[in-house]
Amino acid sequence: MGRILSGMQPSGRFHLGNYMGALENWVKLQNQYECLFFIADLHALTSSYADTSKMQDNIQEMAIDWLSAGLDPEKNIIFVQSHIKEHAELALLLGMSTPLGWLERVPTYKDKIRDLEGTDKDLHTYGFLGYPVLMAGDIILYKATHVPVGEDQSAHLELTREIVRRFNFLYHKEVFPEPQAVFSKAKVLPGIDGRKMSKSYGNTIPFGAPPEEVTAKIKMMTTDPSRIKKTDPGHPDVCIVHKFQQVFNTEECPVITAQCQAGEIGCVQCKKCLAEKMNAMLADIHIKRTELEKKPGYVKEVLQHGDERAKVIAEKNMQEIKEVMNLL
Ligand code: TRP
Ligand code: SF4
Repeated sequence: MGRILSGMQPSGRFHLGNYMGALENWVKLQNQYECLFFIADLHALTSSYADTSKMQDNIQEMAIDWLSAGLDPEKNIIFVQSHIKEHAELALLLGMSTPLGWLERVPTYKDKIRDLEGTDKDLHTYGFLGYPVLMAGDIILYKATHVPVGEDQSAHLELTREIVRRFNFLYHKEVFPEPQAVFSKAKVLPGIDGRKMSKSYGNTIPFGAPPEEVTAKIKMMTTDPSRIKKTDPGHPDVCIVHKFQQVFNTEECPVITAQCQAGEIGCVQCKKCLAEKMNAMLADIHIKRTELEKKPGYVKEVLQHGDERAKVIAEKNMQEIKEVMNLL
């Protein structure tokens, strides 16, 4: 059995797109691997260093999201990155031997700086350039063998592998395993207006939303605009409801597609059927989330317990790293 490590930046309320993109997959992985999952607050600082006022609230919200999705704090080690000081220490040590060119060449580096040009976020910082070094440290501090990554993070993982090879070469010892990517079938959910689901577009379905809200959001989704009567043949490929049917109602989706194309199902009925499927899956999450919101003390304890367990591994591996680098 390998060891999985992954993290997420606590950057405000989670939505259903985030859940389907990553968290749903973690919940499955917890039964197949030894897993460590951490709230990447230091990573959040690399781009949101100027306003940290919501940090603690966001960490708490993220922990609630994870627990209500079904991550089990006994099966997994769930912790907060900055509470384990070895993350910062290892990033510093790895930074010594990481060539500047490797970092400047990461494709997301220049893209993201460009994307944020003109906003109040200036990413021409040492911390932002070093983001992949921090991430490499996160992974190898626990000697993780597998990392679940989306497409957006795969360049970072590749860089981690190069950093590992260089470290093992320089210090003449196979200290770290080279972590492998675990790709999940990306389930990309659009927002309810068809653009990318994003808080800044106001088109999200919040994770843990109550059934009435889910149903209301489905009612707002745009369908095939050329359909006026139920008997008009529809074009599911241009319909947002259909994209959701593909993800949440995989079984019935082929039938619905055919019925839509033949003008045998109306959009109102189609939406009703989607709402039933989604709510069957999300109602439990909503209930759990509501309960956890009332127990902030319990959520804090879960994180403390995870911190303690992560610390044991981090301290032990750090000793070994310092030993090969002649720092003891
Ligand atoms: N960079 C990741 C993100 O923004 C979060 C992250 C930090 C991470 N360290 C990691 C993911 C280590 C996997 C492994 O989503
Ligand atoms: Fe979309 Fe369903 Fe209407 Fe077809 S019947 S256009 S898939 S909402």
